[in-house]
Amino acid sequence: MKLILANDIGNDKMKILEPGMKEVVKVPSAYKRINRKPSVHENDVKKNVANLIDQLLVHISSSSIRRDGLYMIGERAIQTTEGVSNMDIAVHEKHSSDLPLINTLGYVAGRAVQKHYDAEGNLPQSIQVEVGMSSAIPASQHNIETARQLEERFMETSHVVIVYVGQEQVTVELNFSQVKVTKEGIPALYAIFEGPNDMFKEFCKEYGMKKIDGSHFTNSKIMHIDIGSGTTEYIYSVGVNPQPEQCTGERRGVGHAVEEAIQLMKEERKGLNINRQQFAKYIERPEEYPKDHDLAVHYLREARINQVDFILEDVERKYTTTLSSEPEYLACYGGGSIEFKEDMYKYLKEFADSVDAKVLWIPEQYAVDMNVKGLDILNRNMLFTEEYKETVVM
Ligand SMILES: Nc1ncnc2c1ncn2[C@@H]1O[C@H](COP(=O)(O)OP(=O)(O)OP(=O)(O)O)[C@@H](O)[C@H]1O
Ligand SMILES: [Mg+2]
Repeated sequence: MKLILANDIGNDKMKILEPGMKEVVKVPSAYKRINRKPSVHENDVKKNVANLIDQLLVHISSSSIRRDGLYMIGERAIQTTEGVSNMDIAVHEKHSSDLPLINTLGYVAGRAVQKHYDAEGNLPQSIQVEVGMSSAIPASQHNIETARQLEERFMETSHVVIVYVGQEQVTVELNFSQVKVTKEGIPALYAIFEGPNDMFKEFCKEYGMKKIDGSHFTNSKIMHIDIGSGTTEYIYSVGVNPQPEQCTGERRGVGHAVEEAIQLMKEERKGLNINRQQFAKYIERPEEYPKDHDLAVHYLREARINQVDFILEDVERKYTTTLSSEPEYLACYGGGSIEFKEDMYKYLKEFADSVDAKVLWIPEQYAVDMNVKGLDILNRNMLFTEEYKETVVM
C-alpha cells in the first residue's frame, strides 16, 4: 500500500491532508506512554475502525524514537488526565523531538488499517506501507542539517507499528521512501495563490477593492506572519519565490499565552492539572465544556496581551530592518491569528498604513490549515506528481 501525506506537525495539533481529502485531519500533538494495554469496551470492528484515529493505541518499534513501547496518541491521549507528553514549547525542537515521529507513525499506521478495511472489509494480520511525506519545521529551527535530520529519522529505518483495533491487532510495517522538510510558513504561500475569492472577501472590503482570488498575489512581495502555538514565523516571499535567507521565527504564540493562562486558572481551581492541548479543548469546544470554556476564555484573554505585543514588535522591527520596508502585504494566519485578532488587527493595520502596506488577515475558517494545504499543493505539483493521482481517496 502507498500513502502520500502532507503533514504540518504543529505544537498544538498535527494537521494532515492526503490526496483528495476534503477535510483536514487534526490530531492533538500529545501522546501518553503506557505499560499495559487498557481493557477494551467496544467489540464492533466496523465502529472501531471508523473511530480509529480518535482512539489510537499503538505499539511502536523504531530506532528513531527513544523508547519502543505502547502509546496512546492524539485525542486518545488527551482524554486521559495524568502523564500526557507534548512538545515543550520553551525548549524542544521539532527535528529532534520524539513527538513528530510517534504521532506521525501512529497516524499513518492507523490510516493504513482504515484503508485496508475500507477496500477489503477485513483486518489483515499485517500490512506493508510505503509513505511519501512533506512536512515543515519552524524557521528558527530550520537549516540544512536539522531538516535532513528529521527526514532521515523517518527514512533511514523501517518502523513497525502494531495497531490495536478493539480486541484485534494489525502489524503495520512503514517505509518512508521520500520525506521533504521545509520551513513553516513557506507552504502557506501556495495556499494563498490557490485561495478562493472567499479568502479575500474581508481584505477587499477593507481596501475597497473588487473581487479577487489568490492569483492577485503571484507577483507580490509578502511578509507572512504565521502565528502558531509555540512559534511564530516571519516569512518573506517575492512573487512565487520564498526568500529562505530572510525568513526567521521566534518562540511566540498562543501556547505561551495558554501556559500563562493555565497558571492563572490554577489559582482559582486548586488541583487543576491540564496541559496546553487540554486547555485548547476547552477553548474550541464550548458545547462540550461550557463551564471550563468560560473560565479558559477569561484567563486567556488576560494572558494573550503580552504575546500580541511581542509579535507586533517583531513585525515592526523585521519589516523595517530585515526586509527594508519592501513587502507590499502583511499576511497573517495560523491559529494565533484567530485568538489574537481582537487585540492585534487594529495595531497591525495602523502599522501597515504607516508604511504604505496592506494587511491580508486570512479568515478564521482558513487560518489554521494554510500550511497543510500548501504542503498538499507541493505534493501534488512538485514532490509526488505521479503517486499523487494513484493514491487519491474518495
Ligand atoms: N477557531 C479557533 N478559535 C480560537 N483559537 C483557535 C481556533 N483554532 C485554533 N485555535 C488556537 O490556535 C492555536 C493553534 O494554532 P496552530 O494550529 O496554528 O498552531 P500549531 O501549528 O499547532 O503550532 P506551531 O505552529 O507553533 O507548531 C491553539 O492554541 C488553538 O487553541
Ligand atoms: Mg503551525
